[in-house]
Parts: sequence; structure tokens; C-alpha cells
Amino acid sequence: MKHVVVGVSGGIATYKALDVISRLKKQGINIHVIMTKNACEFVTPLSFQTISQNYVISDMWAEPKTWEVEHIELSKKADAFLIIPATANLIGKIAAGIADDMLTTTVMAAKCPVILVPSMNTNMYENPIFQENMQKLKAIGYHCMEPAEGRLACGDYGKGKLPDPEDIVGYALEVLNRGTKKDFDGKKVLVTAGPTIEAIDPVRFITNHSSGKMGYAIAEEAYNRGAEVVLVSGPVHLSCSDGIKRIDIQSTQDMLEAVLAHESWADVIIKAAAPADYRPAAVSDSKIKKGEESLEIKFIRNPDILMELGKNKGKKILVGFAAETQNVVEYAKEKIVKKNLDFIVANNVTETGAGFKSDTNIVKIIDSQGNITEYDMKTKKEVANIILDKVRLYTE
Ligand code: PMT
Repeated sequence: MKHVVVGVSGGIATYKALDVISRLKKQGINIHVIMTKNACEFVTPLSFQTISQNYVISDMWAEPKTWEVEHIELSKKADAFLIIPATANLIGKIAAGIADDMLTTTVMAAKCPVILVPSMNTNMYENPIFQENMQKLKAIGYHCMEPAEGRLACGDYGKGKLPDPEDIVGYALEVLNRGTKKDFDGKKVLVTAGPTIEAIDPVRFITNHSSGKMGYAIAEEAYNRGAEVVLVSGPVHLSCSDGIKRIDIQSTQDMLEAVLAHESWADVIIKAAAPADYRPAAVSDSKIKKGEESLEIKFIRNPDILMELGKNKGKKILVGFAAETQNVVEYAKEKIVKKNLDFIVANNVTETGAGFKSDTNIVKIIDSQGNITEYDMKTKKEVANIILDKVRLYTE
């Protein structure tokens, strides 16, 4: 059984920690709660005791329930430490090395992964002092969840809301389960994700519907399985683990350069991105003024990055994607040959639950011998692991 210590600090979102704990309990996780004095002003320890089914520690000087040194014992037992909500005050204390209550002393003694889920007013969140504290903690390996954006309890609108309990649990489980399967230890994996954008003038561009979710899921799972990961990403609204080297690009030409710079480094390259195949022949220096007539723009071909990689494949494992709207298998097979791939992941982007933007995908994996494996609808995380399992067969 896994043990998670949940640290609860005092804020308007304190009550939401109860929902998170209840969901973690349903996963069979043993929860030990430590509350700050301020947290007890918002919700009573009795509520946390009832939900966690364990004695709640809030007072450092209370009569101990065991003869062990409680904060040391709890920090040794924990597989992860989840702090929710993590207030600006608490994060400031942890970053400064202050240990003046049960929660901060236990965090300081913890050797397990620590997950911070901040929640506060937008202006506090954006305050450079707070940001510096977060950066400091991230740099030493703390896992910091991004707060959500929306209407805050104070009436302001912006970033600082506690993320949905479901998302917090997903994030915590991912950190908790990280390290269980390390079959990519020592492997160097290059992943591309997202769209590229091609400028027409300083204010306009063409692009496509890629959200980056497929590529990011592959990068995360490869990282979780022990790989060193470089993620070349088009403009998307996603974040990735701090341990992944992310390179942000805009155009297909940028993506080509970033990929080629890591070509000889990588053992495995997985191209989940949707690079634009064409770009305007000329980019106007100033905004194109609208007139009465229609506007014609001439497009020229962009380089095919995967095809370039296929020319120097060597011993590398090269995996492509095929985004099709018809003749999926036929077109995918053509791409395997043309781009010299080990295998291709084909998705029909017109199917519901497949392709762009969704959290799921429906794929067929086709290898260079013509073997086809079809999968039902799966989460992109599951698809990522299926792809990585297949890659492993080539690297064994
Ligand atoms: O990002 P999401 O919203 O999660 O959506 C996922 C996805 C639909 C983008 C993904 O599953 C997918 O299918 N990615 C490939 C998109 C694509 O460009 O397909 P394609 O059939 O046009 O290209 C074939 C392969 O060549 C792809 O691996 C592509 O990355 C690569 N390519 C394409 C064009 C180009 N100029 N250079 C390339 O390297």
C-alpha cells in the first residue's frame, strides 16, 4: 500500500483538500494529514480525520499518539507528500528553509517527492517574490502544479485557483507511480509535438488544429519510464515535467533546425507533431491592408522533417504519425517507405475521439514489414505507452 502525507494549509480552497483525499483513498492509498494552524480555522481536523480515517496532526506540541518522533516517522513512511492548498506563505517558508510547525518540519525531513498545489489571489501568484520561491523549489526537484485560471473567491479574475480535484489526483498519481517502470533508463528520446505556425504578415499566420496532447503524452511517458527526453514543441497551451528539455519553436523550418540539432544525440525519434507542409512564399513586413478585391497568397513547400531524418536513419528508431481523413492504412504504408520509418502510428482525424485536441486517440500501428495492429479508443497516455512498448521491442 502507498502512503501519502497530505499537508493542508489555510485558504479558501482548504475544503477542497477533503475531496482530493477522498479520491486518493478510493485508489487504495493510505493518507496521513498534517494541518497548519490556519487551515484549522477554515475546516476542522475532525473532517480530515473522518475522510482520511487516520489521526490528523495539527499541533506540534500535542500529546504524541506514538513513541516515534512523529514528523520524522511520517516523512520516512511517505511515498509522496502532497500540499494542498499551498499558500504563498507556506511556499515562502519552505523556500526559505523555515520549519516552525509540524507541516514545515515534516516537509523539510521528507526524502519522497513533494507536490505543491498553489492557490492564492492572482496578484500574489504573479508577485516576483512568490515566482522566485516557486522557481527555487522547482529547481531542487519539487513538483509544482500550475494553478487554474478563473474567477477567484475575492472576485478577481485570473490565475491562482486551485485546480480541479480530479486533475490534482491525476497529477499526484503520476508523480507517485513515476519510477515504477524504468525500461527507458539510458535511452535518449526526441519527441515533436503540436502544430507549427507560418507567418503571413506580422499579425496573421496559418496553422492547424494540433493541441500537442499526443506528443506531450509520449514525452511524459518516456520520461516516466526513465528516458532522457527532448521535446520540440510548437505553440501549445501545455506544460511538461521539469526534467524534460523542452524547445519551443514556431515554424516548420524552426522545428527542422531544432530536430536536426538533436538528430545524432537521439536513440529514438517520435514525430507526433503536425508541421505545416506549406508556408507563404513571401512574408509581408507590415500588416497586409484589406482591399475590395480577394487576396491571393502563394504557398511554397516546407521541408519534410521526417523524410530528412529517414535519409540518415542509421541505428536510430524512427517513428512517424500519419494523420489521415481517408485511405488511412494505404497512405500510412506509403509514408513508412518514403520516410524510411520503423513503424507509423496512423489516426483517422475525422473519427470522434481520435486525432486533434481530444484526450483520446484511436490508432493503428503499422510496421515496415506491413504488420498492422488496431487499437480501440484509448487515452493519449495509454497510446503513448503502447508506442513506447513497441519501441522497446526494437531496442532490446
Ligand atoms: O496534437 P494533438 O491535438 O494531440 O493531435 C495529435 C495529432 C493528430 C497531431 C497526432 O496524432 C498526429 O497524427 N500527428 C501527425 C500529424 C501530421 O503531420 O501527419 P502527416 O500525415 O501530415 O505527416 C506524417 C509524418 O511526417 C508525421 O510524423 C509528421 O510529424 C511528419 N512531418 C509532416 C510534415 C512535415 N513537413 N514534416 C514532418 O516531419
